[in-house]
This record gives sequence, C-alpha cells and structure tokens, in this order.
Amino acid sequence: MIVQTELLDAQDPAQREACVRRAAQTITRGGLVAFSTETVYGLGANARDAGAVRRIFIAKGRPEINPIIVHAANHEAARQLARSWSTLADLLAAHFWPGPLTLVVEAHRDIPREVTGGLDTVGLRVPRHALALALLEAAGTPIAAPSANRSSRISPTTAAHVLRDLSGRVELVLDGGPAPGGIESTVLDLTAQPPRLLRPGLTPPAAIEALIGPIERGGAIDSTSAVLRSPGLLARHYAPQTPLELCPDDGAALVRSLCDAGRRVGWLRFLNEEEAGSRADALGGHSESKYAADVNLVEMRLSREWTACARGLYGALHALDEAGLDRILVAAPPEGDDWLAIRDRLTRAAHA
Ligand code: TXA
Ligand code: MG
Repeated sequence: MIVQTELLDAQDPAQREACVRRAAQTITRGGLVAFSTETVYGLGANARDAGAVRRIFIAKGRPEINPIIVHAANHEAARQLARSWSTLADLLAAHFWPGPLTLVVEAHRDIPREVTGGLDTVGLRVPRHALALALLEAAGTPIAAPSANRSSRISPTTAAHVLRDLSGRVELVLDGGPAPGGIESTVLDLTAQPPRLLRPGLTPPAAIEALIGPIERGGAIDSTSAVLRSPGLLARHYAPQTPLELCPDDGAALVRSLCDAGRRVGWLRFLNEEEAGSRADALGGHSESKYAADVNLVEMRLSREWTACARGLYGALHALDEAGLDRILVAAPPEGDDWLAIRDRLTRAAHA
C-alpha cells in the first residue's frame, strides 16, 4: 500500500500540540506514525488494533515472528498489558520508567498476536521522551512500535533517516529532533529466572544489577536460545548496506592499505586522548565528518564516553553508508561493561 507521507515538525513549541493531536488521530484511526523517542525513532500503531499492527510488518518488511515492543503512557497503563505484574517488575518499572528499559512479561490475553509474534509474552516500556509521552497520552491507547527503519537496516535517529527508509509507507513522521539516546532500549526478560538480558541497550546492565542483583547476560548476543526467546535478535541487524568490518585494533593499517589500493574507505574511529581533551565538547558527542586530503578516505570520529558515542553512532553509520564507499572500517570500541550495547550493535553491523 502506497500512502502520502507527511512530515510534521513538532520541535516548534507553537506547532507541537496540533502535531500531537494529528498524530494521535492517525494512530486511533489505524494509521502508522513514526515518532521520536529518547532511544531511536519508533514506527507506531495502535497496539490494540491487529490490522494496524500488521501494517507495521508490511512497511518494515519485518519477519512476522518478530515481536513488537508496546509503549505505554505510564507504569499503570503498562501494567494493564501484562497478565500478571510481579514485585520485580514493579521495582524495575518504578526505578527505570519512564526510560530506555523494555520489560518482557507474560502478555495479557487481549493483546493481538501480531504484537507478540505468537509468543505468550510482551515487551513493555514507558518512554521518557516528552513527545512520545504526549502522543501516548493524546492517543489514549498503547502504541506498538519497533524502530522506524526497514528490517535489518540501521535504526533511525532523525526524521530524515526515517523518511529515507519509510517514505510512502507511513502516514506521518512526527519530527521531535535528533533522538537524544541514539541506540535502542535494553530488553530484559522477566519470565526467566534470573531475569535475562535479551538485548543490551541504553540502560546499563550494571544499573539493573545494582537494583535487583545478578541477571543472566551471557547469551544475549549469540546463543540460539536467546534468538528463540527474542526472534528480533537475528545475527545480521542494524547493518549499513556498505560492507562493514569491525577491526581488532584502531584500523589505521587496514585503512591505509585499502586506500593505497584505490578503494574508497569510510573509517569510523574513536577520539584519541588529546583529541578527546580538546574537542569532545565541541563535538558534543556527535561524530564529525572530515574529508581528508586523501580522496579515498572519509573519516568520522566518535566520543570515548559511551553515552556520547551512542548518541552519534547511528548518525555516523548512516552518513558513511550514504557516502558511496567500498568499505566501512570501524575501530575496536573501548573495553568494559558500559560498552556492551555499542559492541553488540557494531558486531551485528559487521556480520555479513
Ligand atoms: O528503544 C527501543 O526499544 C525502540 C524504541 C522505538 O522504543 N524500539 C525497538 O524495537 O528497538 P525493535 O522492534 O526494533 O526491537 C525490539 C526488540 C527485538 O529484538 C524483539 O525481538 C524484542 O525487542 N522483543 C520484543 N518483544 C519481545 C518479547 N515478547 N519477547 C522477547 N523479545 C521481544
Ligand atoms: Mg529495530
């Protein structure tokens, strides 16, 4: 189905209320609205309308077994979507919501199977972004929303990214400016004992463990059982169309040899110490594009502070993917637990 896609700029405070009202109407009438959240842009439909949710799969080209996260306006509204609500769910929700943590719990039987992908669980989250919350309030219904990209592509962090993938496939794009978090929510399965990390994301596992004790995090990335529990964890995901390689080091030697061989190379690397000291503020955590004197090289840099890196990561990958390059080389990210989500995304992007 081809539709006319309208872009609504909700960044202007004078326009905001009218934009939100229009978007909410589109949702309640069974339409699709892409909207900003604090993580990435979501592609939303009324979670109680099976037909509307089916349209998400068509627009994205998404496998039908892949369940969709349901966004709710508040803790109480989320709770009503679960069959039962444990004290653990209560504790996590009270502490991390609104925010980038998705809790997988047993689904209330009224939730369409299109949302759950046929599982008996549902992923729930209350987003923190003011525009997402305003949309949920105005729509008066929970909103099912995966990331607003074509299936297996890089998640969008701006309205322009959304339009590039989904123009002609969704009714509205609600532009709330760049998504401040830059990567997706953490997905935690509360039906497992102990709770299991299904996807690392913006809420660090250490913060979760500080609240509820150890969680199982080992198999989140590769194990078959994790894939079966969360079908969205297909190995190749979040990938640019240009072949991408994750280097074991900073990548400099490989970049040099490929450029010398006449290849057009994108090099995504991390600010080194001196640069970080003098330029991190100026970069504001976003990557910077530099067309080097070397015509074969497009270089972009990311912060060594993980939240700033997350904010700039997909924007940099989108930009490199647009630059008509032969290869994208990415330097090894810093070590450490905080970098788990970023390592996960880069590993998937590199998985050919
Ligand atoms: O930050 C985010 O989570 C964004 C924004 C829009 O909220 N959404 C997002 O959705 O990233 P999506 O569909 O691109 O990724 C959702 C992930 C998938 O890996 C999916 O398999 C998993 O969550 N998931 C959703 N419901 C699940 C369930 N009931 N059981 C297991 N995994 C589930
Ligand atoms: Mg996604």
